[in-house]
Amino acid sequence: MKKQLLELLICPLCLPFEYSLVADIREEDKSDIETGSLHCPHCAAQFLITEGVALLDPYSADSQQPTNKYENMEVVSSYLWSHYGELFDDPHASQAYATWAELINPQGGIALDAGGAVGRFTFEMSNRCDFAIGIDTSHAFIQAARRLMRQRSLAVRLKDEGLLHHEVTINLPDAWHSDKVEFVVANALALPFRKKSIAVFSSLNLVDKVPSPLKHLQEMNRVTRGSGAQFLLSDPFSWSNEAAPVDQWLGGKAEGPYAGKGLANVATLLAGGQNDLGPVWQVGEPGSVWWKIRTHTNHYELIRSCFVHACR
Ligand SMILES: C[S@@+](CC[C@H](N)C(=O)[O-])C[C@H]1O[C@@H](n2cnc3c(N)ncnc32)[C@H](O)[C@@H]1O
Repeated sequence: MKKQLLELLICPLCLPFEYSLVADIREEDKSDIETGSLHCPHCAAQFLITEGVALLDPYSADSQQPTNKYENMEVVSSYLWSHYGELFDDPHASQAYATWAELINPQGGIALDAGGAVGRFTFEMSNRCDFAIGIDTSHAFIQAARRLMRQRSLAVRLKDEGLLHHEVTINLPDAWHSDKVEFVVANALALPFRKKSIAVFSSLNLVDKVPSPLKHLQEMNRVTRGSGAQFLLSDPFSWSNEAAPVDQWLGGKAEGPYAGKGLANVATLLAGGQNDLGPVWQVGEPGSVWWKIRTHTNHYELIRSCFVHACR
């Protein structure tokens, strides 16, 4: 983990109070902490840094269960294809990430991509902001993103059919800067970052995956600046009981709080500034992109991800 992150980090277990974490560095390489720990002087919690990866998800026991599909190597390979397929000229590659990136106006400050998986959008933001951070609860995803950050090239085994595979190589373009990105294991519902520290916040295909979608928006709002900030949310709104109980959904139901469609409800929440979502956001016209996940040569998932871009 790059040392420059230290000044941003706070204990995710002590929220809403913000206590700085103290680093105990065991092994370092230039400005990177390879091995060590981060310690909260208030609650005494310890967060490890192993092989350069900071483990800052306070609920990691839940998210790293073997049942967490995002730790599975086949799923890592699927997401590497989804994020970087364009770079190895796959004719079926998704253009979604480039389209989302175009929605962000270049801006000074730090970008944070929540649930950023294997890192594509974080790399895109390294070209539009001073620094970009990707967080995800999946250790396997963050390891893959950091490998790309360090090596700038990664061989990926893509499934053809059954036990057959072929290998492709991802090479990052020069416009994406390794010295301007970092990836940490963290939870979007308890972000280890100081309030008002983030200029550009993105949440792509995440809001329907967390147990409390409103808490995710509140955490987004806590860490983003009160002015000079952008927020991009995109999602297929595939609400499910597996991710969150119905009473927590922000849409997809006929009655009760947040009845109607998720995208409209998120836009109303942002524009209203209530529920700890102020100062109010100026919400732009909604839109959608086709997002793709590849399982094997003959099997893809095509997902319409509906977005809203907001500024304040
Ligand atoms: C559907 S994927 C979308 C990944 C990426 N944003 C994209 O659009 O390609 C959902 C991602 O959210 C991560 N995730 C799920 N719950 C999370 C949480 N509470 N905090 C942070 N990441 C989370 C998963 O590990 C996974 O990488």
